[in-house]
Amino acid sequence: MRGELLIQGSKNAALPILAATLLGEGVFILHHCPRISDVEHMLELLEDAGCLVSREGHMLIVDTRGAGNFRVSGEGAGKMRSTVTLLGSLLGRFHQVEIPYPGGCTIGKRPIDLHLEGLSRLGAVFGERESTLYGRADCLRGASVCLTFPSVGATENLLLAAVLAKGETVIRGAAREPEITALADFLRAMGARIRGDGTSCICVEGVCRLHAAEYIIPSDRIVAGTYLFGTVMTGGETRLLHVPLSHLGTLPELLERMGAQVRAREDWIHVRMEGRCRAVPHVMTAPFPGFPTDLQSALMAALATADGISFLEEKMFEARFQIVSELQKMGASIASQEDFALIEGRSRLSGCTVEAKELRGGAALIMAALAAEGESRIRGMEYVRRGYEDINGDLKRLGIVLY
Ligand code: EPZ
Repeated sequence: MRGELLIQGSKNAALPILAATLLGEGVFILHHCPRISDVEHMLELLEDAGCLVSREGHMLIVDTRGAGNFRVSGEGAGKMRSTVTLLGSLLGRFHQVEIPYPGGCTIGKRPIDLHLEGLSRLGAVFGERESTLYGRADCLRGASVCLTFPSVGATENLLLAAVLAKGETVIRGAAREPEITALADFLRAMGARIRGDGTSCICVEGVCRLHAAEYIIPSDRIVAGTYLFGTVMTGGETRLLHVPLSHLGTLPELLERMGAQVRAREDWIHVRMEGRCRAVPHVMTAPFPGFPTDLQSALMAALATADGISFLEEKMFEARFQIVSELQKMGASIASQEDFALIEGRSRLSGCTVEAKELRGGAALIMAALAAEGESRIRGMEYVRRGYEDINGDLKRLGIVLY
């Protein structure tokens, strides 16, 4: 991979921000919004709720003045996890919500106990009948909530419910991911009073009303990290633009430990790799600013080509090693058990037909194919299109042609 690339907007920032538009009445303009299937599904849900939505390239226009339906149904609702982020915004706007009970997905059971417990502290009451989740909150009141795990989604739902609640809400044990700060920035642009986002203690002073806003979605740190591991695996040199260094956590240091030359400034990162990357004795996924679980598969693919043995622990989700069998088909030497994998790097992988079974594993398999000898065929690209707007176009800009 060689070249310069502007990174797409962030899926995991765009989804809660789109949900947040329901909390204000007016016409919202969102720039740098990724054209991915998860965003399209969320737009369908907003239209179901009564919003008018239109798109001009990467700019979205969302008119929420006609929103009136708190019952989220339809095909899109059951399709993706981020439907759960509508809980907080529908309760905040309509004091009622009905959504298909969010099930698990291929990477794990994905429970929502922390969401429901936290929202209950603000006065919401929930029930479940025939796989539909019903919620009601006649009056949302600020409260002190302590999350026993820094859940990204639970933190987002609490922010969405707290901004229009009566009084102050304090969220302790909050997630610190950059997507939390992006959501808080957007809510402040709507008139919300939030401080402490990006730390584990967030304070929200409820207000009576929120208004429409215009906002630029930040770049996708996971898409950026995927291409940085691809650079390391192919001995390339890339510069990724519009990627805030503060969003990358421990990733630059990890790339240097793997032997890459890394230069970075406020909003770009330049990575150059000569020869074969080095193994890393131990990496464990963790909440931000730790190593992100969403990049674990891309790291595993890179370590499968590294010089030496690496030990990888996945502590966030219970089924995130699905690419092990596919990398083994390519000649990788990986032994995995429960939440850890031992990877003995191979100088070369062999191209073959592999199957993407979920979003981040699919993208990692494409990176592995770039480093493999011979032709590879990756099935299941619909998973990759959930989060990568134009991976063919991105790679073409980095000198690689997929066909
Ligand atoms: C968000 O999921 C992201 N999704 C995920 O990205 C990401 O992997 C995850 O955060 C962790 O960073 C979006 O933002 C749309 P969590 P979320 O709640 O909010 C447990 C991708 O590929 N938990 O922080 O669902 C849960 O089981 C996706 O883009 C509870 O036990 O993540 C998991 O083990 C995949 N009870 C851990 O916390 C709860 O009520 C982290 O979950 C909630 C979560």
